[in-house]
Amino acid sequence: MIIIKTPKEIEIMREGGRRLAEVLHKVKIKVRPGISTKELDDYAFKLVKEIGDKPAFLDYRAEGAGRPYPASLCVSVNDEVVHGIPKTEKILKEGDIVSLDFGIEHRGLFTDMAVTVPVGIISPAKEKLLRVTEEALYIGIRAAAAGKRVGDIGYAIETFIRPYKYGIVDVLSGHGVGRKLHEDPYVPNFGRKGAGELLEPGMTIAIEPMLNMGGKSVIFDDDEWTFRTADGKPSAHFEHTILITPGEPEILTKI
Ligand code: MF3
Ligand code: CO
Repeated sequence: MIIIKTPKEIEIMREGGRRLAEVLHKVKIKVRPGISTKELDDYAFKLVKEIGDKPAFLDYRAEGAGRPYPASLCVSVNDEVVHGIPKTEKILKEGDIVSLDFGIEHRGLFTDMAVTVPVGIISPAKEKLLRVTEEALYIGIRAAAAGKRVGDIGYAIETFIRPYKYGIVDVLSGHGVGRKLHEDPYVPNFGRKGAGELLEPGMTIAIEPMLNMGGKSVIFDDDEWTFRTADGKPSAHFEHTILITPGEPEILTKI
């Protein structure tokens, strides 16, 4: 069931989204060669505690998942697509790309956001992957107008990506967000024009394209969380929580 948020809930999510964007920005500027993914996780945890909110992913149980997520931040490096678990021994190095995915619970409501950032100087091919994936997110957001349908979002992203020949990860998708981290509807990054659930003002959804430099296939790691590309090629991920309005969609996860 899709939940339409009340004006009061929207106000809280707007503030939560602003806080989340601020925290993620601070974590992002810590990224450099030599830092461990665990240090980034610890820093995100510290920042969210300082502002009096809760990290949404820590101890989160995905539907059907064995063990709860053991960290606050998802840190996915190079061929890791999403849900990479931070580790002390995992050290970032020049030329890596790293996806930072974070969610917070502010006054009972959830917002969700991700960026992929370069570690030092990266190859032109990786730079292009980051640029195109971020652009795909904004293409998806622009398509999310009230009166359109969920399929229109995926259709817009898929059509935009086609000329680049990147693999669109199709076993994972965006989602409704707010009273819970994951709510209806599923928001895939591919789709058919005019298909799927109707977008209505007051709906809050997370759009999150995951694009692979190679094929779309992914492998689920033995750690029970990490998704990585099957062909070992790099992957990028950007995400915003947005509000459907009678006009342009509003990005909630912004400073
Ligand atoms: N943005 C991610 C998602 O929607 C965050 C989930 S991580 C988890 O899938 F640990 F909480 F599952
Ligand atoms: Co999400």
